[in-house]
Amino acid sequence: MTWLPIPVSSLPLALCLSIRSMTTATSMSKRNSTPPPPATLFLPLTFDNNRRYTVNVSLPGNSSQPEYFAFALTTSTGYSSVAAQGCSTCGGGPTYSTSPNQQIGAVRNVSVPGGSIVGSAIAQANNLQLQNGSSWPWIDPSFIIANQSNSIFGAGTSGVIGIGTNARQGTFNETPMAFWLKNNPSHQNFSYGLALNPPNDPTSSNAGTLHWLAPDENSYEVNTDSFVEMDGWSFQGSNGVNMSDDNAGLSAVIDPIFVDLVFPQDEAQSIYGAIPGSQRQTTLSSSGSTIYILPCNTTMQLTLTFGTVSVTLTEDQLVRNLGNSTCQGVLEEWAPKMSQNTF
Ligand SMILES: *[C@@H]1O[C@H](CO)[C@@H](O)[C@H](O)[C@H]1NC(C)=O
Ligand SMILES: *[C@@H]1O[C@H](CO)[C@@H](O)[C@H](O)[C@H]1NC(C)=O
Ligand SMILES: *[C@@H]1O[C@H](CO)[C@@H](O)[C@H](O)[C@H]1NC(C)=O
Ligand SMILES: *[C@@H]1O[C@H](CO)[C@@H](O)[C@H](O)[C@H]1NC(C)=O
Ligand SMILES: *[C@@H]1O[C@H](CO)[C@@H](O)[C@H](O)[C@H]1NC(C)=O
Ligand SMILES: *[C@@H]1O[C@H](CO)[C@@H](O)[C@H](O)[C@H]1NC(C)=O
Ligand SMILES: *[C@@H]1O[C@H](CO)[C@@H](O)[C@H](O)[C@H]1NC(C)=O
Ligand SMILES: *[C@@H]1O[C@H](CO)[C@@H](O)[C@H](O)[C@H]1NC(C)=O
Ligand SMILES: *[C@@H]1O[C@H](CO)[C@@H](O)[C@H](O)[C@H]1NC(C)=O
Repeated sequence: MTWLPIPVSSLPLALCLSIRSMTTATSMSKRNSTPPPPATLFLPLTFDNNRRYTVNVSLPGNSSQPEYFAFALTTSTGYSSVAAQGCSTCGGGPTYSTSPNQQIGAVRNVSVPGGSIVGSAIAQANNLQLQNGSSWPWIDPSFIIANQSNSIFGAGTSGVIGIGTNARQGTFNETPMAFWLKNNPSHQNFSYGLALNPPNDPTSSNAGTLHWLAPDENSYEVNTDSFVEMDGWSFQGSNGVNMSDDNAGLSAVIDPIFVDLVFPQDEAQSIYGAIPGSQRQTTLSSSGSTIYILPCNTTMQLTLTFGTVSVTLTEDQLVRNLGNSTCQGVLEEWAPKMSQNTF
């Protein structure tokens, strides 16, 4: 199976995920009335230096003051983690030190797109900072104090918050969503929506909003899971070149932690082969894929088809201006070593 990473932000639509409570049928049958949906909580998102989407999370500090950190959002796991004090492979950003009397649990190794996080899991109180100055607290029973990582932390990011379901590991009960559902037993599902600003403007730090507990329905065009089938794509270059693959059969992973759209090698090379002046680079992106530099005046159109939904991206989404008369293609090419089913 081929997994194609799609950054939510490259799509002119937003992800709206609804997670049904995995409680037993017996406890569900006790409910006789449907509660009104919870109010939407608004979480401001900021870009880190790698243009990844981060939320502001506070952890209890060693004095009475909380410590604030930028945590990157990922839908590929339900585990969350912070870089531990003394971690030499955690990117050199702000780190967290647990209190000496904290009980340390088993060592965990969690794969996230572009790398892995290794550390001891502890029960940890966390707070998500809301737009209005309040916060949303949760206790994470398996919060990873990372003492080893690659490419995940750094660039201003000290942690990750996993808003995936952990369905593959069967550990939904260790996610922030499960914590809320357990404490709000009259609710049967947990929803959130990501209204993301594209990362292409280097001068903007406003990355959008996470709608927590209840997505603002008007903001979204598509209701989807984070895994979708991509049935095909077509490309039109400015020089009249047309290309398409109507039978791509790719399973796309939609995760805000991907900043770039990564295509298999053959497809990426054909597309850039049709863009005059594009240059394949020898240095890899932070997530290990091959990048292309292209003329800033490139015009192009790429249409991705997911079932009945087609999304057309143009140079507005596909050309990133680095701000020094250099432009980089948002579409990247899989590095040879990138496994086709890493996650
Ligand atoms: C307490 O936290 C501050 C801020 O993170 C850090 O600079 C300091 O070293 C910590 N002190 C101890 C005793 O861990
Ligand atoms: C997080 O929010 C706190 C409280 O509003 C603020 O003081 C801090 O600067 C913010 N930190 C980050 C990393 O945005
Ligand atoms: C963690 O998992 C990754 C990917 O499976 C692997 O490459 C790495 O060696 C593992 N690290 C440890 C310390 O087990
Ligand atoms: C922030 O919004 C939440 C949810 O609407 C609300 O419960 C809380 O009281 C608000 N806080 C402030 C300081 O207005
Ligand atoms: C990380 O922590 C675990 C458990 O405390 C320990 O076994 C391991 O040696 C540590 N690894 C590094 C690289 O510090
Ligand atoms: C979520 O749960 C509420 C009742 O708690 C229900 O009315 C609503 O239809 C559910 N939404 C989804 C998408 O399942
Ligand atoms: C490419 O496709 C466009 C739109 O479908 C069409 O107008 C154009 O003639 C095609 N060009 C070639 C060279 O096939
Ligand atoms: C882009 O600009 C270059 C000169 O800077 C010019 O030669 C080229 O024709 C332009 N391409 C397009 C598609 O406008
Ligand atoms: C433009 O900026 C990027 C990112 O800062 C840098 O990697 C690149 O070398 C720069 N290119 C030129 C031609 O200055």
